Amino acid sequence: MALPFAVLRRDATKAFVRTAPKSAGMKRTQIFGITVLILALLIGGAAVIIDGLRDPAPRSSATRTSGTVSIGGPYTLTSHTGERVTEASFRGSYQLIYFGYTFCPDVCPTELQDMAAVIDELGDAGAQVTPIFITIDPDRDDPAQMASYVEAFHPRMVGLTGTVDEIARAAKAYRVYYARAPDEKDDAYYLMDHSNFIYFMGPDGQNVDIFNGQMPIEEMASRIAAALPN
Ligand code: NI
Repeated sequence: MALPFAVLRRDATKAFVRTAPKSAGMKRTQIFGITVLILALLIGGAAVIIDGLRDPAPRSSATRTSGTVSIGGPYTLTSHTGERVTEASFRGSYQLIYFGYTFCPDVCPTELQDMAAVIDELGDAGAQVTPIFITIDPDRDDPAQMASYVEAFHPRMVGLTGTVDEIARAAKAYRVYYARAPDEKDDAYYLMDHSNFIYFMGPDGQNVDIFNGQMPIEEMASRIAAALPN
């Protein structure tokens, strides 16, 4: 009597053991497959942007650890008040620099709002930081357009534009990626793809920190405050 019972139990156990992992395994496989599919879609969709973003983030830490790669450099541009300026024009002041364009439907306005909010969050110390918006769309963003745009965000915000070559040089210095969106028609309403970082520069023009576009205002403010002299 004991033997058949043991066999039955073993079989029952086997059956259970056999089916349970199989179905769990199938679920895992399905979940894995779906995860891979979602990742593939995300990676595919973000590939253009990631391509542009890939450089700055790792290089920021590389800059701080090895000092071999730098963010920032010489540029000559035209301010929203029509003055010719270079990177040296901002020496002596900490800077928050963002590259974008005034026709941007959502990301740029959000980032510039955040930049202004960070400066407010810093209180009195915020006076040491100059917010700078550099266009990557010089065809549409002339000084007048920049002037009406930046004043909507912060009274001290500086808008910079330039020729196509001047903008390309500035963007290259900051490892900024930008391009006209590929599936846009060649009309006045085209969109631009561009990387989404806020560069925190010291009064000597050296890069201090880089904030990605999703960073909370409080975190940016505390990282800036930590770098500012007391
Ligand atoms: Ni934008």
